[in-house]
Amino acid sequence: MLKALLTVAFCLLVITSLAVAEETGSPAKLVNLVRQDCGSCHGMTLKGGLGPDIRPEALRHYDIDTLSLVVLDGIPETAMPPWRPILSEADAKRIAEYLLEGDLK
Ligand code: HEC
Repeated sequence: MLKALLTVAFCLLVITSLAVAEETGSPAKLVNLVRQDCGSCHGMTLKGGLGPDIRPEALRHYDIDTLSLVVLDGIPETAMPPWRPILSEADAKRIAEYLLEGDLK
């Protein structure tokens, strides 16, 4: 009986810690999103595919605010979709920083 209770408690603990790791805004999650979701069009290494090269050298003409708006609102009448439905403004800003600097803080 005690063993069963302990097993249940342990499972709950694992589930809770997984849920915390999945929280939006965690750097690992944003990097994953950029590699997978943005990568599906811009290429896994972001050097271009259906969408253009979005590595730091290619985005020098953007400042962080403009770039976060491109991420949030997309580019109308092109395949670049708006991400506002799934990203907060803070997340978009961190992605913009990541794209410009190649690093996520
Ligand atoms: C469905 C395909 C698709 C997905 C997914 C996608 N993009 Fe794009 N993206 C495009 C296309 C196509 C363009 C070029 C639009 C144009 O013709 O101006 C573009 C343009 C851009 C630009 C502007 C590049 C420049 O040189 O002006 C940025 C920045 C960008 N995307 C970032 C992202 C980010 C960040 C993500 C993920 C959050 C993402 N994209 C996901 C298709 C996509």
